[in-house]
Amino acid sequence: MNTILKISNLSKKYQSGFEALKSINLEINKGEIFALLGQNGAGKTTLISIICGIVNPTDGKVWVDGKDILENYRDARALIGLVPQEISTDSFETVWNTVTFSRGLYGKAPNPSFIEKILKDLSLWDKRNNKIMMLSGGMKRRLMIAKALSHEPKLLFLDEPTAGVDVSLRKDMWSLVKELKDAGTTIILTTHYIEEAEEMADRIGIITKGELILVEEKTSLMKKLGTKELTLQLLHPLDEIPSDLGIPGLKLSADKFELSYTFDSKSEQIGIADLLQKLSQHHINYKDLYTSQSSLEDIFVNLVNSGAKSNDA
Ligand SMILES: Nc1ncnc2c1ncn2[C@@H]1O[C@H](COP(=O)(O)OP(=O)(O)OP(=O)(O)O)[C@@H](O)[C@H]1O
Ligand SMILES: [Mg+2]
Repeated sequence: MNTILKISNLSKKYQSGFEALKSINLEINKGEIFALLGQNGAGKTTLISIICGIVNPTDGKVWVDGKDILENYRDARALIGLVPQEISTDSFETVWNTVTFSRGLYGKAPNPSFIEKILKDLSLWDKRNNKIMMLSGGMKRRLMIAKALSHEPKLLFLDEPTAGVDVSLRKDMWSLVKELKDAGTTIILTTHYIEEAEEMADRIGIITKGELILVEEKTSLMKKLGTKELTLQLLHPLDEIPSDLGIPGLKLSADKFELSYTFDSKSEQIGIADLLQKLSQHHINYKDLYTSQSSLEDIFVNLVNSGAKSNDA
């Protein structure tokens, strides 16, 4: 079986009556990195919390490696590691004891050499005898990852793993996540940083207002939804776009020196050839032209905005 996580018609209505998740369906394959992108309050933490048994679903089912998270909670939970969004701090316990204790909680036999390996991998080995309260924020976050890995989970959830982490540590975290994937762990992470999803994920899910509005391979998502913009720097300013030019979507900049044209990258040749030919017929000359590809960020903002509009309608 290639599926490690299956979510079927999962819904959550909090006691306040707020519907945080609306009939989520999702399957995660073994060994992939899945990034869940969504704005504040979209439902990311709620979804993870249900899978990890912290929040009860209102409706629907979840299986981890074929084990129902409600009917077979202990077995399902043993397969999961969770690095929560909120990190607990101010502990008098040492790094070593915390991670060792965490492994014991899952009924795993002690394995000091494994704990040593994760602390070294996470650059926490030097701090093993320090109390948690003596660690920096970034170290505490890495400690949370060490704890989550202590019982050798197959499925690791990272809820905003790099929130508040500096740029260099963020890059370290990315390479660590890739190493975990290479070692066979399946990873689901949530993030606000589109760059992070773009950098790491095999697949991306976009969640907005409790609905999973899109799940797609990262590369095909960027190809399929990506539009390009062609910009022409004109030799002479243009008063206005000639009305008989017949190219919809063409825009003139405020300084009248740039024409820009947004087009679907799939039909690029036809559009551009046509445009350039018509410009030349109208004696509109340009000194330079360049294209730019829309980023995942543009795609995300467009999708979330159009989703929001259709929800309001
Ligand atoms: N215990 C609760 N009772 C009522 N509503 C809740 C509760 N927990 C979360 N919510 C609401 O559910 C929605 C989803 O919250 P959730 O924490 O899942 O969002 P999120 O996508 O993780 O956001 P963020 O990016 O800010 O972490 C929010 O509107 C939130 O206010
Ligand atoms: Mg959250």
